[in-house]
Amino acid sequence: MRNPQLNRHGELIHLLSTEGLPRAVIVQILDTAAQFVSVNDREVKKVPLLRGKSVFNLFFENSTRTRTTFEIAATRLSADVFNLDIARSSTAKGETLLDTIANLSAMAADIFVVRHSESGAPYLIAQHVAPHVHVINAGDGRHAHPTQGLLDMYTIRHYKKDFANLSVAIVGDVLHSRVARSDIHALTTLGCPDVRVVGPRTLVPGDLSHLGVRVCHSLEEGIRDCDVVIALRLQNERMSGALLPSSQEFHQAFGLTPQRLRWAKPDAIVMHPGPVNRGVEIDSSVVDGTQSVVLPQVTFGIAVRMAVMSIIAGNEA
Ligand code: CP
Repeated sequence: MRNPQLNRHGELIHLLSTEGLPRAVIVQILDTAAQFVSVNDREVKKVPLLRGKSVFNLFFENSTRTRTTFEIAATRLSADVFNLDIARSSTAKGETLLDTIANLSAMAADIFVVRHSESGAPYLIAQHVAPHVHVINAGDGRHAHPTQGLLDMYTIRHYKKDFANLSVAIVGDVLHSRVARSDIHALTTLGCPDVRVVGPRTLVPGDLSHLGVRVCHSLEEGIRDCDVVIALRLQNERMSGALLPSSQEFHQAFGLTPQRLRWAKPDAIVMHPGPVNRGVEIDSSVVDGTQSVVLPQVTFGIAVRMAVMSIIAGNEA
């Protein structure tokens, strides 16, 4: 079956997941983002690449970073941006997702940026839009968050230059994390030889060897000599049962403290997709410390989202 993200020439037309994205496409996005980083430093932060295009942000789940940086990115590309207020939309009256998309398409949408609690919602939309319309997944359920994965790759490449000799540990609630899945697929595609997922047995599935990662249920073993530590929030909103005794007990066993960070390499960087729960998965002194690149991640997210939108808008289905 053809990859729904690519056209018959192998070019990106929708961004739905980092799974199945060819290495060349990921590198194209990271290289294009590198060119856009300088736009953020200009007095006039605009380029005309999406002039005349309409970008619709549809966030059916809450967001601070993703929604805002998509809006900034589209604005800097000179697109017209429309943020649908889902709570006040006719979704509340029972209008279906596909009817909403059909009606917004009738308003000449060119790009839909979609966050949804249901895994697969962006795929469904991509199957129903006209050939000239593009869909970007801004996070679907626990499945994928591809632009977060790509901005994480951009950040790692910025600080560590090369994926070939890196050890990367992803720590915390891997079970419910769409970020973890997107990071794992991107890291393995880019040739990272040592990807570890770290957390309690209830939050880190035991057998992930098919994904090319090593599972560690001890924080010391998991982050020992790592170059990159990615901390994840406990996704309480996606937990159906009592998977954890308490957030305090999680912190005691897996919380990233300055003392524990010494198990990683001295020049290790600390990442987190946000929002951060200080004192649970990570201490304030680590989030705000010298090894943290949490805020640069957010800034790089603008350039990466500019890159994704400019690339897909240039490709025909
Ligand atoms: N990283 C991330 O997805 O953050 P938001 O939920 O604030 O968009």
